[in-house]
Amino acid sequence: MIRPAQERLFGVIGSPVGHSLSPVMMNRAFEVCGLNCRYLAMEVTDLKEDLPILARVGFDGLSVTVPHKERVMEFIVNVDQEVKVIGAVNTLKRLDEGWEGRNTDWIGVVRSLETAVSSQKVEPFPDGFWAGKRALVVGAGGAARAVCYALKKMGMKVTVSNRTPGKAENLCRDFSCNSVPLNELGNFQAGAWDVIIQTTPVGMTGYDEKSSPVPPALFAPGVVAMDVVYTPRWTVFLREAKERGATVVFGLDMLLYQGVAQFEWWFGIPAPLEAMRKALEDAISGTF
Ligand code: ATR
Repeated sequence: MIRPAQERLFGVIGSPVGHSLSPVMMNRAFEVCGLNCRYLAMEVTDLKEDLPILARVGFDGLSVTVPHKERVMEFIVNVDQEVKVIGAVNTLKRLDEGWEGRNTDWIGVVRSLETAVSSQKVEPFPDGFWAGKRALVVGAGGAARAVCYALKKMGMKVTVSNRTPGKAENLCRDFSCNSVPLNELGNFQAGAWDVIIQTTPVGMTGYDEKSSPVPPALFAPGVVAMDVVYTPRWTVFLREAKERGATVVFGLDMLLYQGVAQFEWWFGIPAPLEAMRKALEDAISGTF
């Protein structure tokens, strides 16, 4: 066993992980809270081999990102009901008996939506604001699963739309929602959905960044549009939503709030939200 003698170690594991913004967000949080900790981004390709090494070296907590969020479930102890339903883990905490896993992505979705809408003062909030709202989730991968879990928990009626319809149908079976093929979204008009969440990589820097998978005709004032992509901050999807008067929620907010929930689970103290937000904003304006 090895234990770091001067500071506690945390990190994010994924591949590729070199552009992750989590280190700037978490290291700023540690600094502001006076915690003697360090957070590193680590390329990890073989979970079976690498997770025990990270435990032996003394990492106390890990964030888990693409492509490991689903497979990592094979290597954790204490799988809770939430993780089982979502089918993905994005946070690990080291216990004596192994890694405990949780999912904070869905918390990031809930907090981002609540914060965006309460700051707009669209309607009295929070009493029952979301219950019964109709939500469209575009994409049916791992991110969409956490999004569907969050929206169902908020009481929304969810429709999933995916390029490969069979994948949307599987997701709908697990979360009791309906599906519409992606190439049929053009048949709908503004007002069909109150909340639209984009979970595919379309629009991301370096991946079809001039496109959006959602027809702009679906946006109107009163619609809430959220993208999980955070580079660039203004994706084509969010620009088109804004142009048509919708309330926009940035992918950076989801990154922030899922990180806040990770910090609070690891340390059991409130996270320094504004310092973490500022760290992300500084990083994104400097880098992208
Ligand atoms: P993640 O875990 O980030 O959600 P994923 O599990 O690989 O990533 O899922 C990616 C999602 O984006 C899928 O729903 C994928 O659609 P398919 O199921 O048809 O593959 C969707 N996606 C990726 N590229 C896309 C594109 N160019 N147009 C539309 N959807 C796309």
